[in-house]
Amino acid sequence: MHEIRLFCPATVANVSCGFDVLGLALEDVGDELFLRRVERPGVHIIGITGADLPTEPERNAAGIVAQLMLRDAGVEWGIEMEIHKKIKPGSGLGSSAASAGGAAVGVNLLLDRHFDRHQMIRYAMEGEFVACDARIADNVSPVVMGGFCLVRSYDPLDVVPLPVPEQLHLVLLHPQVELKTSESRAVLPGQVPLKTATRQTGNLGGLIAGLYKNDYELIARSLQDHLAEPFRSPLIPHFDAVRAAAMEAGALGGGISGSGPSMFYLCQGAERAAAVAGAMEQVFKPTGIPYKLYQTQVAREGARSSIA
Ligand code: HSE
Repeated sequence: MHEIRLFCPATVANVSCGFDVLGLALEDVGDELFLRRVERPGVHIIGITGADLPTEPERNAAGIVAQLMLRDAGVEWGIEMEIHKKIKPGSGLGSSAASAGGAAVGVNLLLDRHFDRHQMIRYAMEGEFVACDARIADNVSPVVMGGFCLVRSYDPLDVVPLPVPEQLHLVLLHPQVELKTSESRAVLPGQVPLKTATRQTGNLGGLIAGLYKNDYELIARSLQDHLAEPFRSPLIPHFDAVRAAAMEAGALGGGISGSGPSMFYLCQGAERAAAVAGAMEQVFKPTGIPYKLYQTQVAREGARSSIA
């Protein structure tokens, strides 16, 4: 394979109760990445659309991943790269992870699958580090593996795929304001009380049990975030009003997508999701803040080829 065009899914990290350890890929929201193998060694970013991002590979979330993978695979050829951003940086929808994880998957295909999934995730985490100063795996794991993922451990890295109930739908509202992951992490406390950790652990276990049992009521009871939401929600425009509307319309639960400002709500069934989307929009439209609204499902696959 000499060139590849990839769809790189947006992601929801944390999923309320899984701060830095849960993430899921979205079915039809994401970026596009084009990679071509060339004789000239190195990584050459020849075009970026949709966002103002650095073209020097070592400062670019996709570029650094490709650079490290080519170096470690010991090949003498290089890669030309075009990045077409549909997800804005600072959205809470895993914009940098789509680039980093997409590059890991795409470069690995050009390398005839030289690296395994955990290695790809580790490379993608280096892209996250360049973009947001933290080596986080919750967004990049579902870009590489698809579906709903649990980062059971960072050291050693151990990412576990989780089942996705058939009728699980998502509604996302992305206020068009930028909230940098680094800023959103800076408001979090360095330590939490034991009682808070206990509540969060119970919900995380509950959510995972709910996914395995197809138990939507258990999923709903478990979608609570005691770690990040209390500190981050004041940074999100109209967070409480959107939540009230989504819950009133029958969402299972939700909250801040990743580090925000996007908000996500999980729903059982497409019809309920449409009602929740309508209710969220009714609250947000009159605020005058531009926004995007998505209704989608969890993607079974991660970054995937759109043409060979
Ligand atoms: N888990 C990370 C956070 C996701 O909440 O900061 C960053 O997108």
